[in-house]
Amino acid sequence: MEPADRYRQLLDELREHNYRYHVLDAPIIDDNEYDTLYRELVALEEEHPELVDSSSLTRRVGGPSDATFQPVRHRQPMFSLDNAMNEEELDAWHDRLVGALGRAPDAYSCELKIDGLAISIVYEAGELVQAATRGDGTVGEDVTANVRTLKSVPLRLRGDAPAVLEVRGEIYLPVSEFEALNERQAEAGAPPYINPRNTAAGSVRQKDPSITASRNLAVWIYQLGVVEGGPELASHTEAMQWLEGLGLRVNPANEIVGSLAEVKSFIEQATKHRHDRDYETDGIVIKVDSFAAQEEVGFTARSPRWAIAFKLPPEEKNTLLKSIEINVGRTGAVTPYAVMEPVFVGGVTVTNATLHNEGEVHRKDVRPGDTVVVRRAGDVIPEVVAPVLALRPKGLRKWKMPAKCPFCGNPIVLPEGQAKAKCTGGFECPSRLREYLYHFGSRGAMDIEGLGYKTVDALIRAGKIADPSHIYELSAEDILELEGFGELSASKLIAAIEVSKERPLGKLLFGLGIDHVGGTVAATIADHFRSLDRIRTASVDDVAEIEGIGPEIASSVVSWFADGTNTAMVDRLAAEGVAMELPESEGPELEQTLEGLTFVITGTLEGLSRDEAKAELVARGAKVTGSVSKNTTALIAGTSAGSKLAKAESLGTPVLDTEALHRLLTEGPDDLLRSR
Ligand code: IVH
Repeated sequence: MEPADRYRQLLDELREHNYRYHVLDAPIIDDNEYDTLYRELVALEEEHPELVDSSSLTRRVGGPSDATFQPVRHRQPMFSLDNAMNEEELDAWHDRLVGALGRAPDAYSCELKIDGLAISIVYEAGELVQAATRGDGTVGEDVTANVRTLKSVPLRLRGDAPAVLEVRGEIYLPVSEFEALNERQAEAGAPPYINPRNTAAGSVRQKDPSITASRNLAVWIYQLGVVEGGPELASHTEAMQWLEGLGLRVNPANEIVGSLAEVKSFIEQATKHRHDRDYETDGIVIKVDSFAAQEEVGFTARSPRWAIAFKLPPEEKNTLLKSIEINVGRTGAVTPYAVMEPVFVGGVTVTNATLHNEGEVHRKDVRPGDTVVVRRAGDVIPEVVAPVLALRPKGLRKWKMPAKCPFCGNPIVLPEGQAKAKCTGGFECPSRLREYLYHFGSRGAMDIEGLGYKTVDALIRAGKIADPSHIYELSAEDILELEGFGELSASKLIAAIEVSKERPLGKLLFGLGIDHVGGTVAATIADHFRSLDRIRTASVDDVAEIEGIGPEIASSVVSWFADGTNTAMVDRLAAEGVAMELPESEGPELEQTLEGLTFVITGTLEGLSRDEAKAELVARGAKVTGSVSKNTTALIAGTSAGSKLAKAESLGTPVLDTEALHRLLTEGPDDLLRSR
């Protein structure tokens, strides 16, 4: 067979398998067979570059571009939907509909409302030519390069494609992918993503499409946009069937029903099974099916009269707060957490939830023995909202931070001006030691594969390790003594320890667990000094001089190295051969997602200091200044923010809380900030 013929044949076959896998969820070959075909395609394209089709499967991920996301005017405005918050509001919508139509509609499409971000995708002569975000409904952003990386978005339609086809749908991050991503974040010592929706939105707005590709986003198509040269279609259902035939991914959970009563039972079922699926839903969308009827009732200024979104509330449940326990972290920080009677909420069983610090426990006034409200919204981290005071038994005592650490018996103190209490036991405290050594070997630090939580714990209990340098003194025999290890796994761990000696300086510095020195700050400091010796002998001024590093971080670094126990340990690490220098020309680099933006920070942020927040922002290219002006992109305000907040409000400057700051750092700025 001619290469050109084989090429077309391969493309057709692979497209068919892709469609079966990603759209129909019904593959007919296994991954190996698919890989073999795919590799043949890649080889053919390498050998015959003249054959390459621009919508070939190998052409999903392009290189990064400097261009920002260009504005795109939608060919038809992207409307949003009116909400019904309860059954009465649904009935009221239906009454208006019947009033306008003079009768009840014959059929309704009941659909899951996917909690992701709306997208418009345009095909011309069957080829994907453009994908754009909703934006303000009239003008969105061109995200074609990123949307091309989604495997459930065909680059070419199947069968008879019309001249122009615009479809709308929702891009989402599957919950399983969200959880895997957060596991990787935790291993890298990075903050978790807040929820799948924000993460999906951030992933679609990456400058580098390969990052979007790595997130494994998916799409459900739910609406027809502009069509030129397509078949006659009488209803939404017909349209969706047609789109499915063209290879677009339409949610099979959607149903067509004939009455309002049936709409309600769909809602009931969908609510009951809300968490059975690998994507989050925040409601049910009901659409009048017939296009003629849709046309008859038309639109209001912002939404169609023929559709409504029935919103599902974030889930809350009551449960018993059995006790408040504490945990001592790697820096000695003491965190109280709620231990509850297990309760199923928002799709998972929750037993523990952090309470952050003693102040938070008192602000919420939750007491052991209380019935408390637990919430787990789209936001995956469960939260204790408040006590149910009406159910509080008489005589419940307020919780107090224990005076002594339950793990090591040393005093717990609250450092002046800080929210978090500390255990004063240093590395005598087994809880702190375990967290610290686990952190040292974790993905974001020295990345020692196989040195998991359990192994660290076993090594500590066997008396083999009491500080990071001891890890490098371990022999295979030491490890073999631990339960669950054999020759092979022991030698693997030894090899992983050996390899970790060459990690870049920033990783080592992060691993040392200095207060306020997170992964980004450590990389910035390492990049500046390039050798541990120079960091060790630096003064507070030397460190604070680095762009983005404030005095609080600087004095934390200097006082860590002023402690002889620490420097002796670092000396032992060096003697074991751990790299203490950063080679020339190798510098850590973070994507400059905040370039050109200016922030002001005020008040007390949750979980990080103002200095740390500043360092994180600067490391991503932002400027941080001291006072709010018309040039300020946004004010980052913690609790007890004062005059700066008032100034920002008077200037109309956006104000971000700690959660929004995390989102900004992990996902980049949203439309609002970028347009300022
Ligand atoms: S239909 C003119 N169907 O919910 C009708 N929207 O405010 C346009 N959404 O912006 C929307 N699932 O991002 C429709 N099955 C579904 C949906 C859905 C999620 C989102 C969409 C829209 C918002 C409604």
